[in-house]
Amino acid sequence: MATSSSLSPSPSPTHSTITLNINGEKHTLPVDHRTTLLDALRERLELTGTKKGCDQGQCGACTVLLDGRRAVSCLQLAVAAEGREITTVEGVAEGERLHPVQQAFLDLDGYQCGYCTPGQICSAVAVIEEHAAGWPSAVTDDVRPEAGPPPLTADEIRERMSGNLCRCGAYVSIVQAVARAAATRAGEGDDSAESAEAAA
Ligand code: FES
Ligand code: FES
Repeated sequence: MATSSSLSPSPSPTHSTITLNINGEKHTLPVDHRTTLLDALRERLELTGTKKGCDQGQCGACTVLLDGRRAVSCLQLAVAAEGREITTVEGVAEGERLHPVQQAFLDLDGYQCGYCTPGQICSAVAVIEEHAAGWPSAVTDDVRPEAGPPPLTADEIRERMSGNLCRCGAYVSIVQAVARAAATRAGEGDDSAESAEAAA
């Protein structure tokens, strides 16, 4: 006679069925526990906007937003992303309306081949919010909280975007695009962002 333990399937030590919340939609899929979020996005869910460059956390091409903060999806296990709000480049626009960062990249030619662009855009979206929230960077002179957000100079943008490599060398236009988008977010009145665009 079969015992109850032999009748009910035991949980797999290597696979689980998970639900990922991506760009506001839930996706349920079985995964090997070793599957990275990047591979789940690209290979399992056909969300190929997120790119695989180095696959070891060096280039930033796979950058997505997890609960609004930047993460390299090649170093994130898909199972660990369950319960998080995942935003990929496919999800930053509002319907047909491009995100200001996307529009600035288009207007200012912030790309050439476009391989790094999805990661650059996701990073830039978060950079602008991090800056607006007053987060200092490694090149910020005055890091006291009461000093508020530092001027978003070209050096500040370069430092904050330094985790995203561009093989085409479109950096000058990318810095200009981030400055333009930051100015847009600030209501077009942010002189520091505009001067950063000019200085890039
Ligand atoms: S592919 Fe993830 S950092 Fe390069
Ligand atoms: S646009 Fe080609 S790698 Fe950045």
